[in-house]
Amino acid sequence: MVALTETGIDGLDRILHGGLVRDSTTLVNGNPGTGKSLLGSEYLYNGVDQYDEDGIYFSFEERAADIRDAAESFGLERWGEYVESGRITVFDKEMLIDSEDYNASLEPLLTELTREDRYDRLLFDSLNMFTMFMADDREKRQDLLKLTEVLSANGLTTLITKEQGDIFTQTDVDIENFLADGSLYLFQRSTDQSVRRYLWVEKMRKHDIESDIFPMRIDEGGFKVYENASAFSMMNDAVSPF
Ligand SMILES: Nc1ncnc2c1ncn2[C@@H]1O[C@H](COP(=O)(O)OP(=O)(O)OP(=O)(O)O)[C@@H](O)[C@H]1O
Ligand SMILES: [Mg+2]
Repeated sequence: MVALTETGIDGLDRILHGGLVRDSTTLVNGNPGTGKSLLGSEYLYNGVDQYDEDGIYFSFEERAADIRDAAESFGLERWGEYVESGRITVFDKEMLIDSEDYNASLEPLLTELTREDRYDRLLFDSLNMFTMFMADDREKRQDLLKLTEVLSANGLTTLITKEQGDIFTQTDVDIENFLADGSLYLFQRSTDQSVRRYLWVEKMRKHDIESDIFPMRIDEGGFKVYENASAFSMMNDAVSPF
C-alpha cells in the first residue's frame, strides 16, 4: 500500500480511493474559472485545519490579498489566521515576478522549498504562467525536471494548476504530463439555467482511482464532489454531459 495524503475535499478522497499519493505531483487541469485555484487553496487549508500539515502556495497569477478574499468567500474562514501564523506560506505574483524586467526565476522557489523541512503540501499556480518566462523548450524541460526532483526529495505532495482547453482531445505531449504522477481535470458545461461543473481524475501513478466523470459544486461551503453517477439525476441531468 502506498502512503496517501487526504485532500479533505468533500467527495474527492473517495474518488481517489483515499487521497493523493504522498510526495507525488498532480496536475489540476482546466479552463479559466473552473476552480483550479480554489481546489488548491482548499487542499492547503484542509492540511492545516484537519491534518496538521503545513502548506506553501506559489501564485504567479494573483495577489495574496485576493487569494485571501477568495478563500474566505468560499468558506475557508481561517485562511488569514493560518497565513499570519505561518502555517500557510503564500508567495504571490508580486513577490515572484520581477516587474522590472518581467522575469520569474526558479531559484528563489527552490531555496524556500529546501530551506526548512516544514511543508507537506504545495500549490503551484499556474504552470502556464511560470513557463511563460522560460526562453525555450530546453529551459522548460530542465527547470521542470529540477522542480519535480526537489519536490519529491523534500516530501511535498503537490498540486500544479494548468490551463488546459479541451479535455479528451489532448494531442500535445508536454513534458509536464510525463513528470506528473497524477492528473485531474475540472470542467464546466453551461445549460440554459446554470453552469454544471465536473471533475475527472485521468491518472494517479501507483494507485487505483475511480475513472468516471463526477459532478461537483463550488459554493460558500467549499468544494463538493458527488461520488456516484446518480448525482447526475440528482442534479436533474440524467444524461451524460458528453
Ligand atoms: N463562494 C462561491 N460560491 C460559488 N462559486 C464560487 C465561490 N467562489 C468562487 N466560485 C466560483 O469559482 C470560480 C473561480 O474559481 P478559481 O479562481 O479557482 O478558478 P480557476 O480555474 O483558478 O480560474 P483561472 O484559470 O482564471 O485562474 C468562479 O468562477 C466562481 O464561479
Ligand atoms: Mg486560478
